[in-house]
Amino acid sequence: MTVEIRGKLYEGKAKIVYATDSPKLIVQFFKDDATAFNAQKRGTIAGKGVVNNRVSARLFELLGRRGVPTHYVATLSEREMLCRRLDIIRIEVIVRNVIAGSLATRTGVEEGGPVVPPVVEFYYKSDELGDPMINDDHVRLLGLATPPELRWIRRTALRVNGVLRPHLARRRLRLVDFKLEFGRAGRRLVLGDEISPDTCRLWDARTRERLDKDRFRRDLGAVEEAYQEVYRRLVGAGGPGR
Ligand code: TMP
Repeated sequence: MTVEIRGKLYEGKAKIVYATDSPKLIVQFFKDDATAFNAQKRGTIAGKGVVNNRVSARLFELLGRRGVPTHYVATLSEREMLCRRLDIIRIEVIVRNVIAGSLATRTGVEEGGPVVPPVVEFYYKSDELGDPMINDDHVRLLGLATPPELRWIRRTALRVNGVLRPHLARRRLRLVDFKLEFGRAGRRLVLGDEISPDTCRLWDARTRERLDKDRFRRDLGAVEEAYQEVYRRLVGAGGPGR
């Protein structure tokens, strides 16, 4: 695929988005920069951009094969992903299979217990407000998505969980929770952003060792090693290009 990269459209905390010579396509460039707690904590995780780009590509390909529409088009390089251009819906959708993070804080329940059936949460994507949790009525009030769109988003988020959970389990990873973002491509809704150790909690199935961004958030050490381990389990095994 030959596309010409044009100007920068947007620079976020972990990625830069570039326009291309096609109005329907953009390029996501994955950086090593990491932030937490609404960018109050900043750092870099060497090699993270490569891991997140490749891991996301694998998972988007898998989801695409299972009928989940994603923005993924092609991998252009170690850090560059060609994607369909979306009008991003300003909702962060979280799916939880295990008590952890803000669910543990919110409920006072210790981390590690199962969440059955999975819980879906919505957060308003707003740096100024610190991404507050919102419900379906708030989504309607703010005009972020229509009720049918939100129903589709919820259903699709659970479907993504149903595909990713066993796939990761086969690679000895427990999918504790994860964040998704959706957007509109014309009139269709499509899964966007990334699916990576930045946006998922992944615990070793046996030892419960945290193999995700919590190592950075909580200063657990061996951050780079955790990202590389996820890469090995999800990308390394398949050989180049697969
Ligand atoms: P939480 O427990 O802090 O609410 O996080 C739930 C999941 O969402 C976890 O897998 C990490 C991911 N996440 C993001 O991708 N971006 C964010 O800004 C936050 C706070 C969490």
